[in-house]
Amino acid sequence: MEQLHEQLLPDLWHNLATSVILLDKNFIVHYANTSSSELFGLGIKRLIGQSLHATFSHHHIDITRINQYVLKDGVDCQQHRVDVVFIDNRAATLNLHARRVHLLNTTYILMEFRRIDDEVRFDQASNQMHQYHAARTLIRGLAHEIKNPLGGIRGAAQLLQYEGCQSERDQCAELIIEQTDRLTDLVDRLLGPNQLLHKAPCNIHQTLESVIKLSTLDNEHNIKLIKDYDPSIPDINIDQAKIQQVVLNIVRNALQALTQGGNITLTTRIKHRLRRGEKLIKKALLIKIMDNGPGIAPELKDTLFFPMTTNKDGGSGLGLSIAQTLIEQHNGMIDYDSWTGHTEFNIYLPF
Ligand SMILES: Nc1ncnc2c1ncn2[C@@H]1O[C@H](COP(=O)(O)OP(=O)(O)OP(=O)(O)O)[C@@H](O)[C@H]1O
Ligand SMILES: [Mg+2]
Repeated sequence: MEQLHEQLLPDLWHNLATSVILLDKNFIVHYANTSSSELFGLGIKRLIGQSLHATFSHHHIDITRINQYVLKDGVDCQQHRVDVVFIDNRAATLNLHARRVHLLNTTYILMEFRRIDDEVRFDQASNQMHQYHAARTLIRGLAHEIKNPLGGIRGAAQLLQYEGCQSERDQCAELIIEQTDRLTDLVDRLLGPNQLLHKAPCNIHQTLESVIKLSTLDNEHNIKLIKDYDPSIPDINIDQAKIQQVVLNIVRNALQALTQGGNITLTTRIKHRLRRGEKLIKKALLIKIMDNGPGIAPELKDTLFFPMTTNKDGGSGLGLSIAQTLIEQHNGMIDYDSWTGHTEFNIYLPF
């Protein structure tokens, strides 16, 4: 067994796909596996004894953080998307993980590298693709929305040219005004809500009650609205009308999705320490709107919050886009999760 271990461990070490090096406190390489030799473009023998800095002609590794967190505090440190250029001028993007280890009474840094160039390129390509699709959907939707009233306006103007009867002329003029108003309204909605917020302390459950009342007006499938409130939630400083609009937009979507019946649950909770990318909210009110309908169509998922993303006849695809703008104006966050039989939208508003 012992012998097996002795032979097995170096073999495993050198067969790892991850590049691993062992550094001392001065960032001198003491040990390296085959993967790291390939990554750095240096034979293992040349790598050992080198300073880590000397293996790059340029790098963005945050050495201060490694000194502080790893060596001093003993806390693991991860660095993502670190750009480096090796001494043979090859560029790479790496993820790095550093950990303090004690071996034979000496402190070392065990550093793992994973090359992510392909992932980065794939992400960029896929982002571009999504943006392209979103832009195309937007333009198609816009063209459709603009062409309809334009057709009406043109027809009315033509009639106006030859129409002698005053009442018919009045009708044409009315139609033109109606259709231009429709266009103005479209442009206004596209530009998004631009009024300033009127914030005041507000009881969120009263807001939700108003939404429930309003949504009973177009509840044609008798959908049950279930309340799951946390009664201990204090008043929160928000623009009540705007938050009501957001929740109403989302509840309406759920009502429209539940064509076979079902239920919608409105939940409120307090959440602590939420992080989304760069954004951190220490304490937030969560409003969760959940339905047990068919789920969001897969082809809409990537651009769900974009304007004109819709699969409804006569839908303008602006409901969620407006909701997102309003929540961002409140410095909050909105996200969703959906699969067959379940859709939930989560709104987080900072206290
Ligand atoms: N709860 C849900 N279940 C299933 N699909 C949903 C749900 N909520 C939203 N969607 C999908 O997301 C799309 C975008 O919603 P959004 O509210 O932005 O636009 P819309 O409802 O299509 O049009 P508008 O709200 O402007 O009248 C909808 O067309 C629908 O396909
Ligand atoms: Mg909608």
